Amino acid sequence: MEDDKKTVCRLDIDSLLRFEGSVTFDIYIRLSDDKTVKLSRGEDIKQVLPKYKEKGVDYVYVIKEQYIQYLEFLRGNLTSKFYNPLTSTIDQVEMLSDSYKATRESFIKLGISENAVLMAEEVSRKSLDVVNKSANIYQFFIAFKEKCDKQLMNKMLISYTTTLMISTFDWQTAAIKEKAALSCILSDIILEPEDFDIMAACGTDYKNLPEKIYNHPLEISRMLQSGGSMISKETIIMIEQHHEKPDGTGYPKKLRHTTITLLSAIQIVAEDFVEALIRNNFDHKAHKELLALFLNKYYQGNFRKAAISLCKMFGVDVPGF
Ligand SMILES: [Fe+2]
Repeated sequence: MEDDKKTVCRLDIDSLLRFEGSVTFDIYIRLSDDKTVKLSRGEDIKQVLPKYKEKGVDYVYVIKEQYIQYLEFLRGNLTSKFYNPLTSTIDQVEMLSDSYKATRESFIKLGISENAVLMAEEVSRKSLDVVNKSANIYQFFIAFKEKCDKQLMNKMLISYTTTLMISTFDWQTAAIKEKAALSCILSDIILEPEDFDIMAACGTDYKNLPEKIYNHPLEISRMLQSGGSMISKETIIMIEQHHEKPDGTGYPKKLRHTTITLLSAIQIVAEDFVEALIRNNFDHKAHKELLALFLNKYYQGNFRKAAISLCKMFGVDVPGF
């Protein structure tokens, strides 16, 4: 295996075992910095991989060309099996999680590709379908959080909240909700799980963020636009603005509320709200307090409209609106 990290993509063993019958590529296992084992296609990986996992190996590596085939396989799977009546909700969540992780790895290691963008669109649409069919968002979170990539679970809840908030406006359409949902899925697509730990440790001290994290909204936008993909302008702007704050203290452009679009404001408020809900263990009694807090916090321009839409979504009337 070439040692250049750009030529190999990471794939977790659990995901691979779900598709072990369809593995048509060689895989590499790094046992240490200077020891790598190759498993040839056709070897009994169902037998072998669990043993490596027991030894503490979580990931295998696949070379670029073969990873592209794996992505295509995953997308085909998502298209053909997702709505099959025999596919349970757990299977659906695992499929989405595998697909999201593969899309992220593809964006990080292979850059922009039509395949990865199509995967992101599929994951976005199908994530919303899964969350929308659940009767209770809290139970959904509890039931599936162990089965789902942590960031994807977060994105699913943000996307769900964002689209419900949009539904309270008279300009809402299915198309605009789809564009907003895609922004929620793609907003952090080049960040790795460890990057979220760094972000959490920095809190609101954004100037201490590593450049890669600080610039990710613009870098993702640049990638999507350079790829000549058909990503809408609305989605691109939402991605660029998703860490801005109404008072200009956000990043990377330190925009003020006057230049932040209503769709961006909705996504920003939705993300903040979802994080607050998770912190509060989805405590129903805390909802009202949270809504009052959000109306106070987001009182300017489009953020005010976003905060009001959040209240309306919960059937809470805001006097004067
Ligand atoms: Fe982000």
